[in-house]
Amino acid sequence: MTHTDYKRRQFLQYATLGTIAATLPGFALAKNQGFNKAPNSSFKADVEIALTAQTADVPILAGAHTHVFKYTGKLLKGPQSALKELPGYLGPILNFEQGQKVRIYFYNQLQEPCVTHWHGMHVPQVMDGHPMYAIYQGEQYVYEFEVKNPAGTNWYHSHTHELTATQVYQGLAGLITISDEAERKLDLPSGEFDLPLVIQDRSFTNGNQLRYMLNRHQRMRGFLGDTILVNGQENSTIPVKTRAYRLRILNGSNSRIYKLGWEDGTPMTAIGTDGGLLEKPETLPYIMLAPAERVELWVDFSGRKPGSDLMLQSLAYQGSAAHMGGDMGGGMRQGMGRMGRMDGASAQNEVISIAKFHITEQISDSPKLPTELVPMRPLTAQDISNPDKTIPIAIGMRHMTFQLNGRTFDMQGHTELEKIPVNSVQKIRIFHDNHGMGGGRRGDRGGMGMMMAMPHPIHLHGQQFQILSRKQNNLSGAYETVRDGFINNGWKDTVLVMPGEEIEIIKPFKDYTGLFLYHCHNLEHEDMGMMRNFFVS
Ligand code: C2O
Ligand code: CU
Repeated sequence: MTHTDYKRRQFLQYATLGTIAATLPGFALAKNQGFNKAPNSSFKADVEIALTAQTADVPILAGAHTHVFKYTGKLLKGPQSALKELPGYLGPILNFEQGQKVRIYFYNQLQEPCVTHWHGMHVPQVMDGHPMYAIYQGEQYVYEFEVKNPAGTNWYHSHTHELTATQVYQGLAGLITISDEAERKLDLPSGEFDLPLVIQDRSFTNGNQLRYMLNRHQRMRGFLGDTILVNGQENSTIPVKTRAYRLRILNGSNSRIYKLGWEDGTPMTAIGTDGGLLEKPETLPYIMLAPAERVELWVDFSGRKPGSDLMLQSLAYQGSAAHMGGDMGGGMRQGMGRMGRMDGASAQNEVISIAKFHITEQISDSPKLPTELVPMRPLTAQDISNPDKTIPIAIGMRHMTFQLNGRTFDMQGHTELEKIPVNSVQKIRIFHDNHGMGGGRRGDRGGMGMMMAMPHPIHLHGQQFQILSRKQNNLSGAYETVRDGFINNGWKDTVLVMPGEEIEIIKPFKDYTGLFLYHCHNLEHEDMGMMRNFFVS
């Protein structure tokens, strides 16, 4: 870490966001080596977009505008529907089709480095937004990729070295939808009946500016805000008619995990997860949604009374060891939006209102929920290229930072066990490594041990994976509060690993060689170094 980096990080922990850029003259001294500065003429793009990371002042709360970072977009080529602006700080929604070739001219107008990752998309290394490709103010990076993913909901966000959490917090994120033939045949709710819901928590100063102040313990836990924003807006009320809707929900929060449920106990019907549509709809009492995870819901408002409301909530649960600092929110105000401004965080063990669906109009016809969605071949032991070698992702801790496989992030580094043959299918085991560190055994009077018992949403770049098994090694009352909320079918790119949990996944590494990240998507953890590279060759 350079001196500037260090000063900056210290500063970030105590500053109010929005004043940072102005106080860091000369931050952009280093220049990158110049990857992908110009379009490749042999890549015939169907869609071309200019995307700029810049500062902006946008209305979020009543009163003063909020100073944010924002991706602004402009469609240069392709169908009009490819780019849809949103009010607030979120970047435009990018709507792609499978098979399209996409070129994105990314410009950085911020006074700090930036790089953009297309979360969930299967793209080559140099297009994947690895932090080594960060660009500085005034520079351009051209992303070019073919959309290989099937229909579903993905997203994009900054992935800058040690700045991902603060940049995403300030607004650098946006949704991506992909459609394909198989999806169109299903005739799912579309147009005004297909609703994006990006859920994020934030805190604000009395002057409506974003607040991000974390002491060391809060940083270990991850940022928890006191205000829920949906699509970048407070107090979301969504008008709906008495028919079926498709909700594309993304947890775009830095660290908050939601236990999504309907206020009146109506079960939730999922039709899609991170990697796209499920084979068939799945009904659960509630759904756990960790940072970066997506879930697509089928919600039918048929039969509800015009004028009535249905609230989408995050239900109470115990996310970590009861005595851990993380859940001592307190002072939460009931109702929508603000949850008690003073203490800066609301607990995960309280009910939080997320968005209110207001039934405005009675209509008579509604599509029916298909019984089958898209075919999916489950990967099994037979598909694994090297059945004798399971790749570990061990979650551990040392020196008050979280690590993976005993190491912290190393920009271009990888170990022997992080080497993966291209076009192979690997079994990966993700587990908590309590051996010799933390676990309360190091005389830390509980401190480290408690911190070990945290949930971590583990994300792997590259192709989507399937969950093979989920095993809980210390069944507890806490786990009972979340256990029925996991969707284990379908394609995933992020999986929530609860305390005591051990998860086996199966993941193809096709097509592309190079460095592909895997990390905790608690963004404070990621920036603390809870990230590593796989080297695919
Ligand atoms: Cu959404 Cu590497 O992250
Ligand atoms: Cu983590």
